[in-house]
Amino acid sequence: GSGKSMLAQRLPSILPPLAPKELLEVSMIASVAGELGEGKLTDRRPFRAPHHSASMAAMVGGGLRVRPGEVSLAHHGVLFLDEFPEFAPQTLDALRQPLETGDCVIA
Ligand SMILES: Nc1ncnc2c1ncn2[C@@H]1O[C@H](COP(=O)(O)OP(=O)(O)OP(=O)(O)O)[C@@H](O)[C@H]1O
Ligand SMILES: [Mg+2]
Repeated sequence: GSGKSMLAQRLPSILPPLAPKELLEVSMIASVAGELGEGKLTDRRPFRAPHHSASMAAMVGGGLRVRPGEVSLAHHGVLFLDEFPEFAPQTLDALRQPLETGDCVIA
């Protein structure tokens, strides 16, 4: 209760706005994910905080109807994993490659 979660959740308020090129990339991903609310674009950086029960498909993308995962939705922003040790090891391992290469490829 020292305020770790609170501190991380305040991050979006001090992040710089998205540059025009970044805004296009972020909007494209949001659009593919069906998360572009009423077609509005915003220059706020994404802040994603998936629950530790998140599946691998939710984290890196995929699923029956393939859609981007949290790691893609956090592009140019923050992927905040609170209670990190509670996440499934398999899910965390799936993040290694995207973090190293900067790409997330879904087969
Ligand atoms: N520095 C602070 N200033 C104001 N309120 C604080 C501060 N630290 C903690 N709090 C209060 O305590 C609550 C709990 O903090 P928070 O959930 O961020 O702690 P935590 O470090 O993530 O705890 P845990 O290890 O249990 O996850 C916050 O919602 C906030 O109301
Ligand atoms: Mg906490």
